[in-house]
Amino acid sequence: MKDDTIMVHVSRDPSRHYGIVNLPVYHASTVLYPTIKAFNNRIKNKYRGVRYGASGTPTTFALADAVATLEGGAGAVVVSSGLAACTMALTAFLKQGDHILVTDSVYGPTRKFCDAVLKRFGVEITYYDPLIGGNISELIRENTRVVFTESPGSLTFEVQDIPAIAEAAHNSDVLVLMDNTWATPLFFKPFEHGVDISIQAGTKYIAGHSDLVIGIITARTEALFRKIKDTTLAYGDIAGPEDCFLALRGLRSMGARLRCQQEAGLRIAAWLKQRPEVKRVMHPALPDDPGHALWKRDFTGACSLFGVVFHTSSEKAISHMVDGYRFFKIGASWGGFESLVIPAELQKIRTAVPWTETGYVLRYHVGLEDPEDLIEDLKLGFDRLNQAHKQKA
Ligand SMILES: Cc1ncc(COP(=O)(O)O)c(C=O)c1O
Repeated sequence: MKDDTIMVHVSRDPSRHYGIVNLPVYHASTVLYPTIKAFNNRIKNKYRGVRYGASGTPTTFALADAVATLEGGAGAVVVSSGLAACTMALTAFLKQGDHILVTDSVYGPTRKFCDAVLKRFGVEITYYDPLIGGNISELIRENTRVVFTESPGSLTFEVQDIPAIAEAAHNSDVLVLMDNTWATPLFFKPFEHGVDISIQAGTKYIAGHSDLVIGIITARTEALFRKIKDTTLAYGDIAGPEDCFLALRGLRSMGARLRCQQEAGLRIAAWLKQRPEVKRVMHPALPDDPGHALWKRDFTGACSLFGVVFHTSSEKAISHMVDGYRFFKIGASWGGFESLVIPAELQKIRTAVPWTETGYVLRYHVGLEDPEDLIEDLKLGFDRLNQAHKQKA
């Protein structure tokens, strides 16, 4: 079955719910059992069954199964946020004395979790150049357990050579985790490229409407899935049923939204690229992007999130441009229906490969507005930018 058909039909059976198209929202804390024997046997249902509200309801499992099917994994676990999906997935495989390799392009709060929490629990962390490819083998130590990848990075958009990284990691029995939020399960199939655990911030394109926070962790094998589930159960982390329902509803239309946003995103990225005020655009689907060849080899599409490096470094001039945008709102959580923009202060973040490039960096997310209106918005923004520079001169 093709992905578009899966997204429409997965995880629902109207014949079991009065013919109603969408699966109902199951709210639960208490689950009742008819006998003591049944109660004592509930643990046999630990991984997939309904046994207690905090371990999942049919609504939670429906979302998990839908994402697992699209990613092509053995099983998935729904957690309370995309960040929780990153932290739970890491925690599941680590203990005191272990070492992990984390891409320098990793989502900021995931880095913060590594530095503020994992280090405190005695885990060693090495950040690596996202473009390292198979040379990651040189960084693998006796106690290395996990390589954490994110491709493309969600601020700087480097495409990682995931198959080469996975081959090197697996040669040393090291697991490969990937934050696959940018591509979504539609545009990158992690398990076909050697990934062991795939992470989705469902908050973004899956939910797609900027109104909820949710994470999904999908595992390549049943054994890995159980390890993740054991961890999230131990922490008591779970997403609320209403959010699972909304995320599942968002998933039904994700293909159509993504393709529309992909096209508009590319058009706007190409338009920005030819502007004299722009130094470069970081979008792997643009043919001259440094990551284009790898993107073309491994991905089947691009979402609408990309970066722009400007010639100017003046925050004042950039603010004149951005603060006056009509449609590009200033906001961080992407993947919804409206266009967004945020500044990216990369000098403050990178350690393995310090960011030395001059020029202000903005990250754009293209929503579902008409691209003509968005381009007009950007055009007027450049007028303000140039005016600000003139006034200064
Ligand atoms: C690449 C990436 N991963 C994970 C997350 C975390 O998702 P959430 O906001 O649901 O915690 C984000 C959020 O911006 C993200 O951009």
